[in-house]
Amino acid sequence: MKIANMLGKAATQLGRGRVGEAEKLVARILAAAPDQPQAIGLAGVIAYQKGDAARAAARLRRATALAPDDPALWNNLGNVLRASGQETDALAAYEAALQADPFHADALCNLGTLRRAAGDVEASLDCLERARLLAPDHPEVNHNLGITLAMLDRLEEAADAFERCVQGGGLPPGVAPVWYARVLHRLGRVERAIELMEAEGAADPSHVFHLAALKGEQPAHAPDAYVSSHFDDFAAFFDTQLARLGYRGPEALADLLAEAAPGRHFDRAVDLGCGTGLLGPLIRASCGHLTGVDLSAEMLRRAEARGCYEALARAELAAHTAALPPASLDLAACCDTLIYVGRVEPLFAALTHALAPGGLFAATVELEPEDTDGAGEGVRLRASARYGHSEAYLRRAAGKAGLEWWAAAPFPLRKEMGEEIAGLAFVLEKPAG
Ligand SMILES: C[S@@+](CC[C@H](N)C(=O)[O-])C[C@H]1O[C@@H](n2cnc3c(N)ncnc32)[C@H](O)[C@@H]1O
Repeated sequence: MKIANMLGKAATQLGRGRVGEAEKLVARILAAAPDQPQAIGLAGVIAYQKGDAARAAARLRRATALAPDDPALWNNLGNVLRASGQETDALAAYEAALQADPFHADALCNLGTLRRAAGDVEASLDCLERARLLAPDHPEVNHNLGITLAMLDRLEEAADAFERCVQGGGLPPGVAPVWYARVLHRLGRVERAIELMEAEGAADPSHVFHLAALKGEQPAHAPDAYVSSHFDDFAAFFDTQLARLGYRGPEALADLLAEAAPGRHFDRAVDLGCGTGLLGPLIRASCGHLTGVDLSAEMLRRAEARGCYEALARAELAAHTAALPPASLDLAACCDTLIYVGRVEPLFAALTHALAPGGLFAATVELEPEDTDGAGEGVRLRASARYGHSEAYLRRAAGKAGLEWWAAAPFPLRKEMGEEIAGLAFVLEKPAG
């Protein structure tokens, strides 16, 4: 068999997930032609699929050095580098792919998503619009164009891009239509959002929870698997996206804490649902030992890079708090995370156990309007798949757990698809005796 035929066959096998077959073919090509760049490139992709990202990158680098005009090799190198957290090098690889072929839709799409992750949403839009002109039915392109347009509050255009994705090639593998459902909900097209989520099947925890939220059902909390997968996916662009949304949670929490307990030092502190650690720098100076707790490994990786936590724990926050020794905490902070915790009773009970007398719990919530007709309970899963809490509900739950309401301040939490979300920062105290 000719090398070109063998390469084609190896790529097909790899595309069908038959890694072993592809590997054998690649080994045969390389035995006959050790410097064959595309075979070395395929060996790189195979190494990546087998979990060896360093070897994959080394092989793809060698392949691009041998064939610098092959855009697919650069694009694959970009993908491997990006997946290994080397975003700057990945950007350079995608740009090299586009230098070799300015009309490479995959590289344009990848560059667009990388630029978005780096916070440059306008540059992302430019790349993705160019990619769409080249590949109008490309599912990844339309899906990502929809996300970028939604981030820019261009909701009708975002919905069009998502619909083209669904009607055209279908959603990219492993992708939940959650962004699309959010946009549709914001546009008032809840029926279509529900139809879409139902069509995608119920196996994925993201689907199940989002669908429940869209239908107005009231599960007690967001499932752990939903939280970790949602935030693992979101981690790369969490900080830049929240800055775009005018997110004020950490500042409001730190300001209220400083006002409620001026000059106080907390020897043992936790940041529950620390995420990428945006709160850390704001409370660092008033804490001794500060631990960050979160369910998402990717969010924790970024919190670690911020360098302001003594320890990080991958755990569910109420379970983590309940497992601490009694009276072992002086401060527990929880910023923009009760929106996933839902009903706060298990956490408040754990705090009563873990806080030292005089210890504080400082948190923010999305503020739910007071329940004037007595029909609700003051905690509600919203169609956005986040919970809102009313002040009266929080006060009741605190009272039942034996925690004292210390201070509270309403504030504008963040914007969401053009809408302002009202927040409440509050501080509870475990009474001294
Ligand atoms: C909206 S982010 C807020 C992150 C950070 N506190 C901030 O203000 O930037 C919510 C974070 O809470 C985490 N989270 C949600 N529910 C959790 C739970 N039950 N246990 C631990 N972490 C949770 C998520 O993984 C995510 O990182």
